Amino acid sequence: MNALLTETQLEEFRTRAAEMPHPRELVIDLLRAIQNNCGWVPDEGVELAGEILGLSPVQVEEVATFYDKIFRQPVGRRVIHVCDSICCWSRGGEQVYGYLQEKLGIVPGGTTADGIFTLLPTCCLGACGEAPAMMIGLTTYGDLTKERINEILAQERQAALSPLPRGEG
Ligand code: FES
Repeated sequence: MNALLTETQLEEFRTRAAEMPHPRELVIDLLRAIQNNCGWVPDEGVELAGEILGLSPVQVEEVATFYDKIFRQPVGRRVIHVCDSICCWSRGGEQVYGYLQEKLGIVPGGTTADGIFTLLPTCCLGACGEAPAMMIGLTTYGDLTKERINEILAQERQAALSPLPRGEG
């Protein structure tokens, strides 16, 4: 596993936390930095975040488990968040979710054998006008059809296998 934070990041977060009246506001930034380095946030990451911000591990955990883009278990290189809120549901979201499970050969919460994709449900992505929608990394994809999903998965698989830095979860 990579270092939770680089020396530079550690110093920056410690400096910022010391200057802020409410250092806990940094908790998401800190967890995301750890996640970008490691692919997910292990227990040691929660403990480190707490130590930097003056919070208990339980206080950090409360945020980490509330925010569904922070992963407390190992995930694939690309996490597919499929919207299961009302607009998407009423416009074929369930079929999209079913197709993704069939195509990737995994159940919700699962990761493909090659370690590339993890599939998770999520609430509204703010792309209701393009429902059904899903998000991979920082990109939201709407108007999903089987053909479009096939194209997106091929493109994301290729990007995941490239030597460029990991996309944000
Ligand atoms: S309901 Fe799916 S993006 Fe809003």
